Amino acid sequence: MEDSSAAELLARVRVHGHLPRHVAIIMDGNGRWARERFLPRPIGHRSGMKAVREVVEGSVQAGVEVLSLFAFSQENWHRPESEVSALMSLLEEYVAREADELHAQGVRVQVLGDLDRLTPAAASAVGQVVGMTSGNDKLLLNLFISYGSRAELARAARRLAEEVAAGRLTPEEIDESRFESQLYTFGIPDPDLLIRTSGELRISNFLLWQVAYTELYISPLLWPDFTRRELFTAIVDYQNRDRRFGRVTA
Ligand code: FPP
Repeated sequence: MEDSSAAELLARVRVHGHLPRHVAIIMDGNGRWARERFLPRPIGHRSGMKAVREVVEGSVQAGVEVLSLFAFSQENWHRPESEVSALMSLLEEYVAREADELHAQGVRVQVLGDLDRLTPAAASAVGQVVGMTSGNDKLLLNLFISYGSRAELARAARRLAEEVAAGRLTPEEIDESRFESQLYTFGIPDPDLLIRTSGELRISNFLLWQVAYTELYISPLLWPDFTRRELFTAIVDYQNRDRRFGRVTA
């Protein structure tokens, strides 16, 4: 696999056929990528946009149904003001630059997270691409922005508590599927494969409920260096795993 080209790996992915329906990615290492080059951190984030394009196109090529990208966490709001505003501008720029191409490729974009905190310009940019691509069905691209999994879980609990308080629901009716119905990801299959770049072995408050049985793949590459070839490598690795979901092999 070390020397295989992207095209060879894609052919292997297709021949195997047992695809992950949903791939989630923690895009990590933009800051280190910039530091290694004595560049400011926002330049690392900007370089990360190319890798986003790579994995979107790669997912379409491979036939993945859902791609979830952790683009901005709730914790990221605590970064220096200059970096936060650079990330917000980058989000607007990404949408402006990629919207037509995403639409042409049949990608439906969804933005998930606490969107009330976005700058009005960023909120309007993402609103436009979400509206424009809403009829597409080739790939669902979930951009998680201002997202934290614990906050998502607390929000779900609060919404169910409100239903109970209003007399529309009894505590006994709260089961896993009822709980899931209050998550941002309701209706989307759980991730089959979670990729994290930059060699870190952490989930970092991303989709804690949803990754209960997800296969993990850690890439040593820093995010701006990630390409569709690495995506296909991760998928081939996934295809060779034995998923048991807590049961025994048949
Ligand atoms: C983590 O690297 C990355 C982020 C906080 C932002 C991810 C954003 C992008 C890839 C760019 C744009 C993408 C979209 C979809 C608009 P880090 O800064 O934590 O890196 P470090 O751990 O090396 O410091």
